[in-house]
Amino acid sequence: MIKRRIGITDTTLRDGHQSLLATRMRIEDMLPIAEELDSAGFHSVEVWGGATFDSCLRFLDEDPWERLRTLKKHFKKTRLQMLLRGQNIVGYKHYADDVLEEFVKYSVSNGMDIFRIFDALNDVRNMEAAMKFVKREGGHVQATVVYTISPVHDYNFYMKTAMELQELGADSICLKDMAGILSPYNAFEIIKGWKEKLDIPVQLHAHYTSGMASMAYLKAIEAGVDVIDCAISTMALQTSQPATETMLASLERSPYETGLDLTKLSRIAEYFKEARKNYAQFDSSSCSVDTNVLLYQVPGGMISNFINQLKEQNALDKLSRVLEEVPRVREDFGFPPLVTPSSQIVGTQAAINVIVGARYMYATDEVKNYMRGFYGRPPAPVNEEVRRKIIGDEQPITVRPADLIEPELPKAREVAGDCIMKPEDAVSVALFPQVAPEFLRRRKAAGQL
Ligand code: CO
Repeated sequence: MIKRRIGITDTTLRDGHQSLLATRMRIEDMLPIAEELDSAGFHSVEVWGGATFDSCLRFLDEDPWERLRTLKKHFKKTRLQMLLRGQNIVGYKHYADDVLEEFVKYSVSNGMDIFRIFDALNDVRNMEAAMKFVKREGGHVQATVVYTISPVHDYNFYMKTAMELQELGADSICLKDMAGILSPYNAFEIIKGWKEKLDIPVQLHAHYTSGMASMAYLKAIEAGVDVIDCAISTMALQTSQPATETMLASLERSPYETGLDLTKLSRIAEYFKEARKNYAQFDSSSCSVDTNVLLYQVPGGMISNFINQLKEQNALDKLSRVLEEVPRVREDFGFPPLVTPSSQIVGTQAAINVIVGARYMYATDEVKNYMRGFYGRPPAPVNEEVRRKIIGDEQPITVRPADLIEPELPKAREVAGDCIMKPEDAVSVALFPQVAPEFLRRRKAAGQL
């Protein structure tokens, strides 16, 4: 019997440590195992983007561009993959097109192959420029639909959005379940629909948070999914991805195979079991399965943020009320999926509403900008009364937010001045003006010693 090959993207070096170790893994802990990972036979390895860029500059004193170049040298056979937050690039706000264009250009020239592009609101207008630039530079555009549950996110929504992305030139499509709330049967329905309607490969990305992701993967495989995202077992589960070895073993005596070898994988697992110990202080040893995410759609990372925020306010006893407030704020905001940066925007407002004891009496700048339309079009209309409370009679914009942003690179070049050693440095400064210039200065000073 000829078995159908299911590709596996290994996420250990990006989402794995982002989910479990606060994105703190250093390149020194990646390189010793890179050759084994490269020869394992993965469809691709997700190693860059998401929060890793910020983390390199902010916490690790590592040049993210140097990390990409180094990884490219070590991964000779396997394609590199990254997470690109559409017009938010690898940050938390919308950037001008000039920054996005240069970011993509240097990502490709430094070795990136597959770009998973998403927008937190599933506003396709916020993905168009990124898709265009990646295509132009010769990269693979993996357009993404963010999975969430709401009255407006029905079967037709997932079909319509995916068709639209295919028409815009996507090379493949991904369903991204960042919260881990995709049930096996919902996965089956959406993936089956996509396989019937689309001509491009379909990939599924899920987090294990609620304990359903491995089951969702199995149903997705039965529905025809081409690639699934997994992490090596010692960096999997909890808020990370399902374990590669589990999925491989689950397919025994099935019409499917992964092409991977359990013995090789066990050496990789053994390596990360030890490497993980270097990050014990960041290791989120939360409970194995988080049921809050099923009740409130609040992912694990968000709950730890709440705990920190509430502790500062001496109001930890209000945690359950904050969790209950999240779905109400989300409804007022037009049911945004809870993913960076909308999760922070909704979560912070929910906490403020409960701590202040009056809803929307105070709103953060991000919330005001959300109501102004600066993050794009919410999936459903926002609550008009709430909007008036937050921005008064101000009219929200209807154009693509980035259309209103002036080019940002000239200022970044000016700010960083002679600390810029390569064109990529200006992109880093434009992305993170609070931390990148300081990093570049430190590096320059160290070089002169
Ligand atoms: Co993820």
